[in-house]
Amino acid sequence: MTSSSFNGSTARCLIVDDDAQVRHVLTRVIQTQGLSAVEACSGADALAVLAREGEIPICISDIYMPEMDGVTFLREALKRYPDMAVIMLTGVAEVTTAVECLKLGALDYISKPVMVEEVRARLDKALEKRDLIIQNRFYQRNLETRVRELDRSNKLSMINGVQMLVHALEAKDAYTSGHSARVSRYAVKAAVLLGFTGDPLEHVRLGGELHDIGKIGTREDILNKPGPLTADEFRHIKEHAPLGEKILAPFLAASPTVLRIVRSHHERMDGSGFPDALQGDQIPLEARIVAVVDAFDAMTTNRAYRHPRTPAQAIEELRRCSSVHFDGTVIDAFVQAHGEGSAAPLPS
Ligand SMILES: [Fe+2]
Repeated sequence: MTSSSFNGSTARCLIVDDDAQVRHVLTRVIQTQGLSAVEACSGADALAVLAREGEIPICISDIYMPEMDGVTFLREALKRYPDMAVIMLTGVAEVTTAVECLKLGALDYISKPVMVEEVRARLDKALEKRDLIIQNRFYQRNLETRVRELDRSNKLSMINGVQMLVHALEAKDAYTSGHSARVSRYAVKAAVLLGFTGDPLEHVRLGGELHDIGKIGTREDILNKPGPLTADEFRHIKEHAPLGEKILAPFLAASPTVLRIVRSHHERMDGSGFPDALQGDQIPLEARIVAVVDAFDAMTTNRAYRHPRTPAQAIEELRRCSSVHFDGTVIDAFVQAHGEGSAAPLPS
């Protein structure tokens, strides 16, 4: 891009120097570059011009001036107009100050006496630099917005996909209708009491919602069998935990905790659970939470193979199995979340 076509219109250049002769020479050079010049005789005057006329894309400023010197002007101007490309004019003895100006955000400096060709070259270079900085910032912002949008849309697709699976499972197994939502809700309440917040809490919520998703692969005659299961049938039903993890892995590669909940929600503290016979702390806490709420809801709702227990009986059973099947701390949190002594099953 040439300086004359900057932003599709004639760009302006602010010339700040207390020496009228220097301003005159620079104005001539600038005009031959296709830019229009705006003059100021001090830093204070230049700030007043900017306040009156708004941002001017490029500026050439002397360093030593009465009223307000070039360094102070540079600092103030960039505070208000950070995109302004400022070139400092400096005497041979002022190189240290010029370097200081570069640190403050000036794009370049020109040594006096002013050479016409040098001013032209530096002007073009400074405008190109400014364009690059602005473009980079634009792309950066655009990229961040795009990434946020993609992230939102990915999450939405994932949630829709997951909802579809939950509905598919509930259509197949009437007894689990509402079960996933209740387990999810009360697992979250218990998790909050155990100190969960933010993403880890969201993982519990999703894990509760999806813990039984692998039952999509369980035969319906076994799922709805009114009597006790044979060893073979029980082996088949146990597959729902690792199968659920496998089904969800492509959706939830970024949320391994959710996958662990799905896989491990039937593990028991004494190692007698499935599919990995994990013991105690080997079982992720999130899976121990879902296990307790899952068991309570299963006991207190009507199933094909038995009548529901009362909440008090279910809690008694949980406590009886504390440390053997279930984590006692989690049971306490769940009972508190459910309402100590509550006579109601989990509300749908
Ligand atoms: Fe399950």
